[in-house]
Amino acid sequence: MKLAASFATLVALVPFAAAQSPVWGQCGGIGWTGPTTCAAGSTCTVSNPYYSQCLPGSSAPPPPSSSPSSPTSSSPGSSPTGPATKLNAAAVAAGKKYFGSATDNNELSDTAYVNILKDGQQFGQITPANSMKWDATEPNRGQFTFTGGDQIANFAKANGQLLRGHNCVWYNQLPGWVTNSGFNSSTLSSVVSTHCGTVVGHYKGQAYAWDVINEAFNDDGTWRSDVFYNTLGQAFVPTAFQAARAADPDAKLYINDYNIEGPGAKANAVSNLVSTLKAQGVPIDGIGVQAHLIVGQLPNLAQQLASFGSLGVEVAITELDIRTTLPASSATLQQQQRDYQTVIAACKGVAGCVGVTVWDYTDKYSWVPNTFSGQGAACPWDQNLQPKPAVQGILNGWA
Ligand SMILES: *[C@@H]1O[C@H](CO)[C@@H](O)[C@H](O)[C@H]1NC(C)=O
Repeated sequence: MKLAASFATLVALVPFAAAQSPVWGQCGGIGWTGPTTCAAGSTCTVSNPYYSQCLPGSSAPPPPSSSPSSPTSSSPGSSPTGPATKLNAAAVAAGKKYFGSATDNNELSDTAYVNILKDGQQFGQITPANSMKWDATEPNRGQFTFTGGDQIANFAKANGQLLRGHNCVWYNQLPGWVTNSGFNSSTLSSVVSTHCGTVVGHYKGQAYAWDVINEAFNDDGTWRSDVFYNTLGQAFVPTAFQAARAADPDAKLYINDYNIEGPGAKANAVSNLVSTLKAQGVPIDGIGVQAHLIVGQLPNLAQQLASFGSLGVEVAITELDIRTTLPASSATLQQQQRDYQTVIAACKGVAGCVGVTVWDYTDKYSWVPNTFSGQGAACPWDQNLQPKPAVQGILNGWA
């Protein structure tokens, strides 16, 4: 609430035109009919086609790293640019394949942001946050567009970074034609197979892994009610995996979900499905644990990652961030450092865990404030692209 009050004060002090969105407010996106200009001191920034947000700061690049960082933005003894050892190098030294980050197309025009992201010693792997999803790649049946996805795949390739494709089948960011056409089971099965086969096939040889199935379960472990399950039952799962395998035999094929970071009904549902699929010979190689976590409230990742690994599949932490109520205090950032360390150490300790991806490396482009009102500060780098104590926590976890 302190943050909101301070912004309210700021807004009150500057000339204020009607029909402006406040800092952190929405300022655009498909279907948005509200203001498209931002309060002074903030800039309307595209998060995805459905959401633009007023973020603090001008559209100019953030200050160079030689400017003073805020007192809470770096741990004692670390330089403003962060520890000398870099995160992917530390992961590789720990025997893992990568430490990586999600990114999105609009962010790639931010030079200061890109200068950190493109460093393969820091980030050895890239995930497109939005531009390989169904709405982006097949907005109309049979009409595929790969412009956005290609930009990110090419970025990863140019910088020697692994690519995780994300994703084939998900109930969200799904174009209306999939949901609303009343497809019968044979048609929808063909639609799924064509979509996964075409998208995965387009990136054949470029993707280390693909999230083939995303968020198929409810938190109580029952199947999510969506057009796929409601029309096809569980059969959409093997259909998607088989199409993906046929399209790119070398990509590791994953099922990915959230709230499976610790033991529970949902983690059990994923385990049971993976066991069944393997017994049936369905090509599945990995379990993606999203890990959208909360400071001070970590589940038992070490136990659950080991349990998933015992199924004979790879495990990856695919979307890590650790959010808190804003504004984050120094004590909170210290707890966040310990939490990042705990998560990384859990991956390090499980042989089957191949790597960790953060769901963007900086609070500047985090999805969290858009989705969880009043929360944020979830990423290892702050809004100004300065490393937080969490960066040291990640290094400690790999050490
Ligand atoms: C499913 O729908 C397609 C397209 O409308 C149709 O050709 C096919 O006969 C239907 N199949 C069944 C089993 O109803």
